[in-house]
Amino acid sequence: MPVVFEKVSYEYSKGTPFSRLALKGISLEIKEGESVCVLGATGSGKTTFVLLSNGVLFPTEGYVSVDGLITTDKQSNIKEVRKKVGVVLQYPEHQFFLPTVKEEILYAPKNFHSTNSADLEKSLNDTLELLEIKEEILDRNPFELSGGEKRRVAIASVLSYSPKYLVMDEPLVGLDSKARSQLLDFLKKYREMKKTWIVVTHDVDAFLFTADRFLVFHEGAVVFDGKRNEFIENALERLEDWGLRPSTKLRFLKRLTGKDLQTINNDQELETILFSSKIVDCESLR
Ligand SMILES: Nc1ncnc2c1ncn2[C@@H]1O[C@H](COP(=O)(O)OP(=O)(O)O)[C@@H](O)[C@H]1O
Ligand SMILES: [Mg+2]
Repeated sequence: MPVVFEKVSYEYSKGTPFSRLALKGISLEIKEGESVCVLGATGSGKTTFVLLSNGVLFPTEGYVSVDGLITTDKQSNIKEVRKKVGVVLQYPEHQFFLPTVKEEILYAPKNFHSTNSADLEKSLNDTLELLEIKEEILDRNPFELSGGEKRRVAIASVLSYSPKYLVMDEPLVGLDSKARSQLLDFLKKYREMKKTWIVVTHDVDAFLFTADRFLVFHEGAVVFDGKRNEFIENALERLEDWGLRPSTKLRFLKRLTGKDLQTINNDQELETILFSSKIVDCESLR
């Protein structure tokens, strides 16, 4: 069953002089197993979308449903929705509330699942491995970690309650290049596990080979929705209208023919093709 947004609008401070229409009747559906990148400039409504997806905010018009549970329905158990849709906020610190990393990661399974200690240990070890979290940080205070560690611990604490859908708000912001590639590696593994994830970002290049489907938000509306190849085919000329930064990767990819394009699955393969086909000449590097 999917996550569905049906003609969803969201207005902040509705009915006051400060009201602000952040989302304007968006409709979309995210199916199980999809890996989705939602792109949009600052203020396009991405964070509002994230907060609507698990019932932190509720639509002022339209509805959001998760596996058939409409978030605004009195009959739907909103806790059930929040368990299905795990949200990792843009600032991991906003999620931490316990003194150690271990307690942070084990809070949900200890309190919401009746798991025995062997199961807890196994699920903790699996999560640490998946996210490349070193065991020696388990007894540290999450607030004292590096940016990359904080982000991965925040994801681990969300994964610990096994949400069906994982939604992350700007997960790469503030990370150095090593932490970025660790996060991308996690998303690739998570995709191979057929898990559903959605990232929202303003960075056009970052998830180009990690996500399969791309959505673009512009001023509270969905202005593009398509698979990677459609995105590569159509996005370049529209980035400026969408308020997004120019993209070097898209510029190169557009110059490749279909056959080459099919064989590229990551940055290294893109580089190999570019050099072997001599597309990288002085002009295009300028
Ligand atoms: N708490 C708030 N009160 C009033 N307006 C808000 C609030 N949060 C966001 N907005 C406005 O809603 C619009 C969408 O914001 P947001 O969803 O945060 O976009 P993004 O995450 O893409 O930057 C922006 O115009 C923003 O100023
Ligand atoms: Mg935001």
